[in-house]
Amino acid sequence: MKVYLETFGCQMNVSDTERAATQFRAAGYDLIDHESGADVVIFNTCSIRERAAQKLYTRVGEIVHRHVGPLPVIGVTGCVAQLEGEAIFKQSPSVKVVAGTRATDRLPDLISRALEGERRVLDLGEREPGESWDVSIVERHSAQVGFVPIIEGCNKFCSYCIVPYSRGRERSRSAAEIWDEVIKLRDNGFKEIHLIGQNVNSYRPQTEAGMEGIAGSTPFSRLLRMVAKTGIERIKFTTSFPRDFHPDIVAALNDHENLCNWVHLPAQSGNDRVLRAMRRGYTRADYLRRIESINNCRRKVSITSDLIVGYPGETEAEFADTMSLVEQCRYEGLYIFKYSERAGTPSAKIADDVTKEQKTIRYMALERLQRSIQTPIYQSLVGKTFEVLAEGRSTKNPTDLTGHTTCHKVVNFAAPPSLIGEVVKVVIETAKPNSLLGRLVA
Ligand code: 5AD
Ligand code: SF4
Repeated sequence: MKVYLETFGCQMNVSDTERAATQFRAAGYDLIDHESGADVVIFNTCSIRERAAQKLYTRVGEIVHRHVGPLPVIGVTGCVAQLEGEAIFKQSPSVKVVAGTRATDRLPDLISRALEGERRVLDLGEREPGESWDVSIVERHSAQVGFVPIIEGCNKFCSYCIVPYSRGRERSRSAAEIWDEVIKLRDNGFKEIHLIGQNVNSYRPQTEAGMEGIAGSTPFSRLLRMVAKTGIERIKFTTSFPRDFHPDIVAALNDHENLCNWVHLPAQSGNDRVLRAMRRGYTRADYLRRIESINNCRRKVSITSDLIVGYPGETEAEFADTMSLVEQCRYEGLYIFKYSERAGTPSAKIADDVTKEQKTIRYMALERLQRSIQTPIYQSLVGKTFEVLAEGRSTKNPTDLTGHTTCHKVVNFAAPPSLIGEVVKVVIETAKPNSLLGRLVA
């Protein structure tokens, strides 16, 4: 039986797909990387914004229209599955399996029930106690960069966000398990790991097992120091939640060179009233204090952020505060989102008086501002030499390789494919809006 898994959305979904693939292989399925000829097609879905959620139905329609031979068994997992449940069967009768965000590891069983003829297989349950988080090396999305989930779910309930509903409460993995996974990646030649979670710095395992005797004033900073001790070459972590961004994280960056100089710290808004309405739990001044503490790190740390424009009730003056926050923070990268109403969230109950056009105007103004900040930052890197992890061939230019710096900038450079997987020195020659072009240094 051939299974094709397609992933939308965040790194957590990529990681869940890796685990599902591991389970499918163990259950005797073959995994293929294209839909044609698949007996089973599974969509691992994202519901963060409306457009992301709609993708599922578009893709199911394509499978139904394009297939030759018998229709594959179509399964849906991830956030849309968790939120919509049974309703997916009604909307898309070709879907035979719906498995929520904590049922991903049970997919092989659920699919085999569908293959045996069960018409609607539904599992929105929690994880099994003691469930294995193991990902076999061959199912990793990259042979250079490994994703290591440390916490799943979210307890923050920001008013606009669907994640607490789609992924449930925060659950942290044990440090001992994380240690074992990082060691396994290191021993298999991985140069970089990303500790991932909706809010990594809210990490709070049930016991300290695995972190005994490690210094640090919060479980997350102790975990960082523990992971640094594995000796793996590069450690990145994302996403950080501003309110829980303890100064000790910066102290850990100062102490361990292999903790990379990049922090993704979404602000969402620069205005206190909007932040309160969003229930973010911090003010602009609190946020700026976190930024200042990161800027005081002994190494230059690249800071990136997410911002939402056009939150219901956001006035021009309030939006101007978001603009000025961006000017003040001078982010090295920024993701801007137009507010998208998600059913079931508190914000969905507020009438959205910011028109689509206003959202677009604010989006473009912010984008223009960010470009004016980012261009000189990227330009200033021309002539500098960076250690770049060569992650693969560039999609645009097949003679180039592509990779990231420790500060998480994309660098493309001419080099032979034999260097994939190596950390190489690259001198930057050209700055593009969101990437750098460089030359390999012998
Ligand atoms: N509308 C727009 N953007 C959203 N995000 C989360 N929920 C919404 C929503 N309802 C953005 C936030 C978050 C990022 C992953 O997606 O900026 O940090
Ligand atoms: Fe959503 Fe807020 Fe949780 Fe982030 S912290 S996942 S924005 S609820």
